[in-house]
Amino acid sequence: MKTQVLSAQQTGAAAAAAEIIKNGGLVAIPTETVYGLGANGLDENAVREIFRVKGRPQDNPLILHITGPEDIERFAHGVPQAAYTLAEKFWPGPLTMVLPARANVPRRTTGGLDTVGLRCPDCDVTREIIRLAGVPIAAPSANISGKPSTTTAQHVLDDHEGKIPLIVDGGPCRVGVESTIVDLTGRRPRLLRPGGIGPEELLAVLGDLVVDKAVTAQIDQDEVVRAPGMKYRHYAPQEPVVIVSGSREKAAAYIRAHFEPGDRVLCFEEELPLYEGCAPLSYGREADVDTLSAGLFAALRELDDAGIHQVYARCPVGGGVAYAIQNRLKKAAAFHVIDAEELL
Ligand code: TXA
Ligand code: MG
Repeated sequence: MKTQVLSAQQTGAAAAAAEIIKNGGLVAIPTETVYGLGANGLDENAVREIFRVKGRPQDNPLILHITGPEDIERFAHGVPQAAYTLAEKFWPGPLTMVLPARANVPRRTTGGLDTVGLRCPDCDVTREIIRLAGVPIAAPSANISGKPSTTTAQHVLDDHEGKIPLIVDGGPCRVGVESTIVDLTGRRPRLLRPGGIGPEELLAVLGDLVVDKAVTAQIDQDEVVRAPGMKYRHYAPQEPVVIVSGSREKAAAYIRAHFEPGDRVLCFEEELPLYEGCAPLSYGREADVDTLSAGLFAALRELDDAGIHQVYARCPVGGGVAYAIQNRLKKAAAFHVIDAEELL
């Protein structure tokens, strides 16, 4: 199969994508977070293809992408008022809400759960594709399972060339980390995955928020978790990653003292001069955290190289999207964090 790449601006790109979706095929779609590997979320066979191409475990549910709050009731029931309040404030945008699923949503899509994740992406061409296809698009991040997510059309091509018919190229993803997931099916709203919307923004609207254990700690493979995806090794280059926290100077002193040939340093642009001779790679500016989230996965993909021995990573502090970066880097590092302040 030849994989075609069409620019989102090209006339007919959305129509071509919608046609493939309607016929049960797969299309890589841009969103403001990461690229998705999309198919008709109501078509079991199409959804099966997503799992096969991505190499994804069957119990890991897919998010349904919809065009707006008016679609919530089509796929969810018993929807609390909070869902509409959140949709009003954050949609279109990087927020996924987990709600009780209606029977029309195949259990293959929900990974066997009786809940469904719904999200309205902030990306005109993708909402247009959903509209033209007339069905919700089920889409996991387009990366091969276990690899860092895809934030450019080229990343998708790297993972899936010859395996899918079409990639719609919307340019590099603005947010760069996946959506925030909040579960509204329990007694209290629960944060299952931090993302583009910060936990404090959710809390301000909801007045209450539990942070799921999977966000902050390593989960065993056989543990029962609410966001099944969180237990799988994720976002990780092949080699070990270790986060070094603490001040610029102390972290640099620690890393420089332990650096060996074959290691790499993933750091902020402002820190590059501190790591001369240590093969540093910057993923954005510490002073502008949005550049860090936008650049994180491209950097992790660049560092996904069998020739690299170990990666020392620097991680921003604070809330908002920095909280999501901390989560992704900790997962890439299997929660291995060294505090340079304590050591020196
Ligand atoms: O930003 C995003 O959310 C991107 C773009 C493409 O929209 N999609 C994405 O999908 O990140 P994926 O499949 O890579 O991650 C979805 C996560 C998984 O951890 C999955 O377990 C969880 O959402 N999830 C989906 N439906 C769920 C449900 N009903 N209950 C709990 N967790 C759910
Ligand atoms: Mg993913």
